Amino acid sequence: MSELTAVILAAGKGTRMKSALPKVLHKVGGKPMVQHVLDAAATAGAVQKIVVIGFGAESVQHVIGSQAVFAVQAEQLGTGHAVMQTKDILANVQGTVMVLCGDTPLLRGELLLNLYRQHREQGAKATVLTAVMPDPSGYGRVIRGEGKQVLKIVEQKDADPSELSVNEINTGIYCFEVEALFAALTGITPNNSQGEYYLTDVIGILVSQGDKVWAVPADDHQDTMGINSRVQLAEAEQILRKRKITALMENGVTIMDPASTFVDEEVAIAPDTVIYPFTWLEGKTIIGSGCEIGPNSRIENTSIGDNTVLSFVYAHDCRVGSGVTVGPYVHLRPGTQLADDVKVGNFVEIKNSGIGLGSKVPHLSYIGDTDMGAKVNIGSGTITVNYDGKHKHRTTIEDNAFIGCNTNLVAPVKIGQGAYVGAGSTITKDVPPDSLGVARAKQSNIEGWTQKRK
Ligand code: UD1
Ligand code: CA
Repeated sequence: MSELTAVILAAGKGTRMKSALPKVLHKVGGKPMVQHVLDAAATAGAVQKIVVIGFGAESVQHVIGSQAVFAVQAEQLGTGHAVMQTKDILANVQGTVMVLCGDTPLLRGELLLNLYRQHREQGAKATVLTAVMPDPSGYGRVIRGEGKQVLKIVEQKDADPSELSVNEINTGIYCFEVEALFAALTGITPNNSQGEYYLTDVIGILVSQGDKVWAVPADDHQDTMGINSRVQLAEAEQILRKRKITALMENGVTIMDPASTFVDEEVAIAPDTVIYPFTWLEGKTIIGSGCEIGPNSRIENTSIGDNTVLSFVYAHDCRVGSGVTVGPYVHLRPGTQLADDVKVGNFVEIKNSGIGLGSKVPHLSYIGDTDMGAKVNIGSGTITVNYDGKHKHRTTIEDNAFIGCNTNLVAPVKIGQGAYVGAGSTITKDVPPDSLGVARAKQSNIEGWTQKRK
C-alpha cells in the first residue's frame, strides 16, 4: 500500500471542557489526548502527520513538537474549515489521507489500519469509521438508504426525530481520496444550526455526485469515544485504565484491586509481581518480576529490578535494584539509585544519591547528594547537611562505614572505608578509613543533684 498521510484536527477550544487548557492537551492515562491519536496513527502506518492547531496553538505545538507538521486555523469555523487549512501542505500528496480528531484518546492503531485497508479494497472516495452507540447523543448520525448504503451524516443539532433515533454514529475518523476531498470541500456551507463548515457534509456531497462512499463500523464503540466534557474524560480514563490493567493481568501480574490501581500506558511490569491496592504507577516506570508494590505507593518514571518490595513509598525518577526493601513511609526523590539488596526503612528521604550494594538506611534519615558505598549502616536519625544556604555539597560514605544514630554529616565531607561515627556527632571533618569519628560534648554526671535540688 502507498504511504498514508494523517490529518489530526486539534484547533478547537473544547468549550464544553470549561478549561483554559486546549481540549486535546487534557491527559488520559497520563498522556495528552492528541498524543494517543498520534500514536494510533503511527501504528496504522501514517508516515506524514499534519495537526491542525488554533486555540492554544503554541502549547499544542510545543507538546507535539517534531512528530507532526502544523496547519493553523486562526478562527475555528468548523471541522470542514479545519481540513481546508491543510490544503497547501497536502498539495503534493496523492492518494489517501486519513482524517482524525484530536479528542478520541481510546483509538487503537489496528482499528485505523482496518479502516484504511477497507477504504483501499473498496476503491471508495471516502470511508467513514462508524460505531453503534448505546447512547448516541451528541454525535453525528450516519444516515443510510434502503439498500443500507451511506447517504449522509447529520449532526445532532440538525437532526430530525427520525434521524435522532439512529444509533450508528460518525466517529469523526475517515479516509478520503485527497483530490475528491478538496473538491467536495469547496461545496460546503455554514448553513446549519451551528453556523459551521462541517466536514461531515463532504459525505453527502460525494454521494450526491455518485462517488463511492463506504462505512466501516468499529467492533467496539468504546474505542472511538470522543471526549467533549470532563465527565467523558473521566470515563475514558477508566476505560483506558481497565484496558491496561487487564493486559498486565493477562501477562501474569497480580493486581489485587483493579479499581484502586492506576497504571499509565507506558508502564511495564514483569510476571509474578503483585500490585497492592491504592497504587499509582506513572510515566515510564519499569518493574521486574517477583516484586511487591504498594499498598499506597506512587511510583513515577522509576525502574525497579526483581524481587523488590516497596510499601507506602513515593518514588520519582529513581533507579531501584533487585532484592531491595523500601518503606513504609519513604520518599525517594529524583536521582536516587539504590543498588541490589539495599534496605530503606521507616520515614526516610533520599535525594540525588547512590546507595551501594547491601547498604541500610533503616530509620528516620535524610540522605541528600550522597555517594554511599556497599554494606554501609546508617543509624537512625542521620542527616546529611548538604545545603549551606547557597550551595549544595556532596557527602561520601565509603564501604562498610557505620554511622551512629542522630548524626549530622556536614558536607562536603567523607567517611572513609570501615570508619565509625559516634552517635550524636556533628561531623565537619573527614573521618579517615578504619577510624572512629566522635564530635559531641563529653558527658558529666553530677552525683546527688536531685537531692540537692529539693
Ligand atoms: C464531530 C463530528 C460528529 C462526530 C464527532 C465524533 C463534525 C461537524 N461533527 O462533532 O459528526 O460524531 O465529531 O467525535 O465534524 N476542530 C477543529 N476546528 C474547528 C472545529 C473542531 O480543529 O473549527 C477539531 C476539534 O479540536 C476536535 C475535532 O475537530 O478535535 C472535533 O471537534 P468537536 O467540536 O469536538 O466536534 P463534535 O461536535 O464532537
Ligand atoms: Ca468531539
